[in-house]
Amino acid sequence: MANPKSTAHQDIVNGSGGELHQKATETTITTNQGLAIADNQNSLKASPRGPVLLEDFILREKITHFDHERIPERVVHARGTGAHGFFELTESLAEYTTASVLTEVGKQTPLFTRFSTVAGGSGSVDTPRDVRGFAVKMYTDQGNWDLVGNNIPVFFIQDAIKFPDLVHAVKMEPDRGFPQAASAHDTFWDFISLTPESMHMIMWAMSDRTLPRSLRMIEGFGVHSFRLINEGGKSTFVKFHWRPRLGVQSTIWDEAVKIAGADQDFHRRDLFESITSGNYPDWDLAVQLFTQEQADTFPFDHLDATKLIPEELVPLKVIGRMVLNRWPDNFFAETEQVAFCPSHVVPGIDFSNDPLLQGRLFSYLDTQLSRLGSPNFHQIPVNTPKCPFANNQRDGHMQMNQPVGRVAYEPNSLMPDGPREHPKGFESARVEEKGVKGRIRSETFNDHYSQARQFYMSQTVYEQAHMASALVFELSKVEHVHIRLAIVGHLQHIDKDLAQRVATGLGVRDMPMPPIAAAPVQEREPSPALQTIGKL
Ligand code: HEM
Repeated sequence: MANPKSTAHQDIVNGSGGELHQKATETTITTNQGLAIADNQNSLKASPRGPVLLEDFILREKITHFDHERIPERVVHARGTGAHGFFELTESLAEYTTASVLTEVGKQTPLFTRFSTVAGGSGSVDTPRDVRGFAVKMYTDQGNWDLVGNNIPVFFIQDAIKFPDLVHAVKMEPDRGFPQAASAHDTFWDFISLTPESMHMIMWAMSDRTLPRSLRMIEGFGVHSFRLINEGGKSTFVKFHWRPRLGVQSTIWDEAVKIAGADQDFHRRDLFESITSGNYPDWDLAVQLFTQEQADTFPFDHLDATKLIPEELVPLKVIGRMVLNRWPDNFFAETEQVAFCPSHVVPGIDFSNDPLLQGRLFSYLDTQLSRLGSPNFHQIPVNTPKCPFANNQRDGHMQMNQPVGRVAYEPNSLMPDGPREHPKGFESARVEEKGVKGRIRSETFNDHYSQARQFYMSQTVYEQAHMASALVFELSKVEHVHIRLAIVGHLQHIDKDLAQRVATGLGVRDMPMPPIAAAPVQEREPSPALQTIGKL
């Protein structure tokens, strides 16, 4: 029987945002081949009480598709929520970059932003003590630019080769399958105790920053230094910061615990309700711009992702704002299938040598090949650039493009109108490198405690008390005493009083020896400018 509405195909159309969706007006239910279904309640049986027949292709199609509904969740940042919006530039960076998204004042660039927790699975709660991912995909007229950041300005490790170990330590333990979404367990603190470079990040992780009151009230940081490249080829280093116009706000631990019990979807629901009721969250985009010569004067290495650049050294410059104003039509199609990648840049933006960033440039595309199952996942509408794009890549699973003609290579003489190199296409910064090849970590990465100390000292007494309580709670869940003692040892380099409070809370009588620090801890107190970081 033909579909009575005379459409022999399922009505899949391009929505206003370019996304594919099934037309809500279609009234006849069909198979995927367009066959109208007369009975969607009963399978085909040999007799009313007899066996179900293999012949029932409608039953088989329906159940087979259902059986394959799930795709692998993200290996980290599995639990997330996202929204569409736009970025509007208010200050031109034309002196520093050729990227049109950063030079054309007033221009609105559409974007998709996904917020996430890091450790838990996709069905975990919204409010554990955890870092929040803050990933933004801007559909610029020069290609997609992804700023894949977190709500903390630094990271746990300095080199991407340690990332699988960090994640294996924080995720549920392999023998028992828990904890689902919390860092309060032996393997996480064991790894941390043996990784002194993580101490700065640990101070942030134990602060109220990891208990946000709302996703609308978190900052976002690109973390690494990137480069901007101008018309003349000159490069300037840049750090990116998103600053919520609602200010940074957190819950306290007791609230977070109660919310986790009362509403697992607390943050997802809050973002949904605020956007669908027209109460659009917005953020300023600010940059810190600095030269190699300035960087040479910093008392730390800006290529080390465990360090931030205090505003007293490089002030923030606000250059635009992001507004999130449209909830996705479909969670799976958009929020789940969106694929961010730090290597998605546009001409005029380039990478620094930060070894953590360099590893990330490889990891995201690689993992997305298995998560999304095809090298053509850029054709999923949420991932597709909104500017023209063309090349000679072809075929592969789920290929939706049908190039015409016989030429699928370049250079060629047979298709003079085909895609060619562009003089204003992406070029890497021209940088001279010298030194000895090897598995070496620069000595300039050795100071693991000074900024941890400066962050702790920049907190109010209440915030410091929260940090001490968080450390006592987390470490009290650690069964192995030597791990607890090792952390207390590190804390002595950060602040003796903090170390004492945590030791007392854990019932430690004899203060352990602090480990040997690879570089002297800078005792200077934070300046007022450092204290403003994150206190909006
Ligand atoms: C996912 C941030 C370090 C590998 C993510 C996401 C964010 C993020 C926000 C979620 C993206 C989304 O919403 O889809 C960061 C930051 C890092 C960092 C800020 C350090 C500064 C690393 C490193 C690696 C890595 C060092 C590996 C070497 C991954 C992978 C995913 C991911 C594999 C899952 C991506 C996907 O399946 O779509 N990261 N990450 N990350 N990150 Fe990172």
